Amino acid sequence: MEKQVAIIGGGVIGGGWAARFMLNGWDVRVFDLDPQAERKTQAVLDNARRALPGLTDVALPEEGTLTHCKSIAEAVFDCALIIEAVPERLEVKHAVYAEIEAANTTGIIASSTSGIMPSDLQSELLYPERLIVAHPFNPVYLLPLVELVAGAKTDAANIEKAKALYASIGMHPLHCRVEIEGFLSDRLQEALWREALWLLKDGVATAEELDAAIAYGPGLRWAQMGTMQTFHLAGGEGGMRAMLAMFGPCLKWPWTKLMDVPDLTDDFVEMVGDQCDTQSGALTPRDLERVRDSNLVGIIRSLRGGDWGAGATAKAHDRVLATQNGMDARAADVDPNAPITTAQRTIPLDWTDYNGHMNEARYLQAFGDATDRFMEMIGCDGAYIATGGSYFTAETHIRHIDEVHAGARIEIRTQVLLGEGKKMHLWHEMFEGERLLASAEHMLIHVDLQSRRPSAPSATIEASLTRIAAGHAALARPDAAGSSVGIRK
Ligand SMILES: NC(=O)c1ccc[n+]([C@@H]2O[C@H](COP(=O)([O-])OP(=O)(O)OC[C@H]3O[C@@H](n4cnc5c(N)ncnc54)[C@H](O)[C@@H]3O)[C@@H](O)[C@H]2O)c1
Repeated sequence: MEKQVAIIGGGVIGGGWAARFMLNGWDVRVFDLDPQAERKTQAVLDNARRALPGLTDVALPEEGTLTHCKSIAEAVFDCALIIEAVPERLEVKHAVYAEIEAANTTGIIASSTSGIMPSDLQSELLYPERLIVAHPFNPVYLLPLVELVAGAKTDAANIEKAKALYASIGMHPLHCRVEIEGFLSDRLQEALWREALWLLKDGVATAEELDAAIAYGPGLRWAQMGTMQTFHLAGGEGGMRAMLAMFGPCLKWPWTKLMDVPDLTDDFVEMVGDQCDTQSGALTPRDLERVRDSNLVGIIRSLRGGDWGAGATAKAHDRVLATQNGMDARAADVDPNAPITTAQRTIPLDWTDYNGHMNEARYLQAFGDATDRFMEMIGCDGAYIATGGSYFTAETHIRHIDEVHAGARIEIRTQVLLGEGKKMHLWHEMFEGERLLASAEHMLIHVDLQSRRPSAPSATIEASLTRIAAGHAALARPDAAGSSVGIRK
């Protein structure tokens, strides 16, 4: 599919979609009735540019373009994917679809609705088979979940296409197999929200106290496991069965009033609004968005370590990006007569320290990742390591030459100073554009993972390494190679 998407409605969600697609290299056309929409979309895009590139360890592709269109027809013309993100009112959505169909009869129409049934959305369409629900979560540019729901007349092939498409932009498509109002997430979220409103209404707790009851406990667990798996663990060795035996009676009392909704009188809405304002203190919604985004990036990055949940999605996206920009090349495919690009990435928000620049531990991480990438190129990859051989780093020297800030797009170029027998001596240079930021020198020794003693690498690895080492022998040796911390004796 050509990387071009039309987005109708450029508010919180449409703006978030625009940002996610653009930063993944898609050209985006937006139509919104509101003259303020360009400004609002831009604000979402600014947030996304700050946060999203730090989720992956491989640089995102070159940004796509953003065009603000004057009509729905102009936006959707010739587009294979049309995202609808207009207000949650059936008649507004139907009117928008009628305009879309007058200009485009083939593109998938993906509604962002939070809970309207796709069968109701497609009921007046001439080509209803192309409508799906693709329900995202705010901020769309960071949260990977997208719920996919088919209506009675949806062509199942469109759900399959959508799964591949949303995965290609770093998302986790969840096919909600049964069409039901509110789908899965919003049914769960709404139950909690309704209960919270009751607790406020009855004067049991304030907005701040209710949020503390989530943020300091259950919310942290929910970032990585849902209610079912969390309670399965809470039941100890008896698992979920023990939990149901212990808490089953409370489910029946019940503790909650979930079937009712408090009357949303003007006074009540004001009271809830005031409490939320008090809770936010001096922080504006824009400030809070940035706090939220930094926290989300940190949480998702930590989940990458265990290849778990949203972290596993981010890692899978790395593999897609690596294939797109050639960062999965093997040694045989690279020019052995020039330094080799071993990293292209953006510095994440949580890599900076109290001085506002990159923490020194992260330099080692970035250079260490570059070494891992070089090892993979010459054949010392996961499969080889599983056979019992690997390289261990024996010595490292890093020079910090210029400041690096969050959001910087860096590239690491690697020169082999020695690649012979058990030894691999690497020289890495880190650049932002052509500005040299740092260098790192690593001496690595090939090791037998059983005996933990030095050993010869496989013949294939040795051949790949010596080919590059022979080419790099003709390059100028870096002046600082072999230097140590410059204290005069
Ligand atoms: N806000 C959320 O957290 C969230 C999450 C998931 C899904 N959604 C769903 O996404 C959709 C959009 O919600 P939102 O929060 O972005 O609302 P929003 O009010 O922020 O944005 C809607 C935008 O649509 C524009 N619009 C209205 N009528 C239009 C028309 N006829 N043609 C073009 N543009 C039009 C408005 O000017 C506005 O900019 C809704 O269906 C909502 O249920 C919202």
